[in-house]
Amino acid sequence: MLYDVFKVIHVVGVVVLVGNVTVTAFWKVFADRNGDPRVVAFGQRLVTITDWVFTVGGIVLIFVGGYGAAFAAGMNPFGSAWLNWGQGLFVASGLIWLGILIPAQIRLARVARTFEKGGEVPEDYWRIGRRWLFWGIVATFPLVGAIAVMILKP
Ligand code: HEM
Repeated sequence: MLYDVFKVIHVVGVVVLVGNVTVTAFWKVFADRNGDPRVVAFGQRLVTITDWVFTVGGIVLIFVGGYGAAFAAGMNPFGSAWLNWGQGLFVASGLIWLGILIPAQIRLARVARTFEKGGEVPEDYWRIGRRWLFWGIVATFPLVGAIAVMILKP
């Protein structure tokens, strides 16, 4: 019973995290294409808010549920290839998030505050935004890989 409860928490965390990183890229592209600086700035503010709520929230649920399930079943979390791959892919995605995406988001949020009431969107914003989108998509692949190894348990 405890194992299944932790597993539900874990998989809900996966849905929240992977769902958020996927749809955020999608709606942010459309907000940017809107062309109205106020809409672009609003979209940027939402990237920050949804990252705190759903990315951090999803990571906490994945952690608590994953290690909780492993300990409830008496599994060594580093004792099998699928668990090690899952954790490795999770860390790989997390390093891109911490090392590239968050610094980019901090710079984008700072620039967005200069046009949140209207005005020119500087080229710098679009340049950093393209880089953020590229690395955001790259950071999603290890998470999809982790879903595969957790289900297929190779
Ligand atoms: C961070 C370290 C992680 C630990 C310790 C961990 C641990 C576990 C454990 C013990 C299970 C239950 C296995 C089963 O009953 O079949 C599980 C299932 C699962 N995990 Fe993880 N996991 C981790 C990371 C991840 C990540 C990053 C993802 C995807 C982004 C993920 C996706 C899944 C999925 C989809 C299942 C359900 C598999 C199934 O029911 O067949 N896990 N995980």
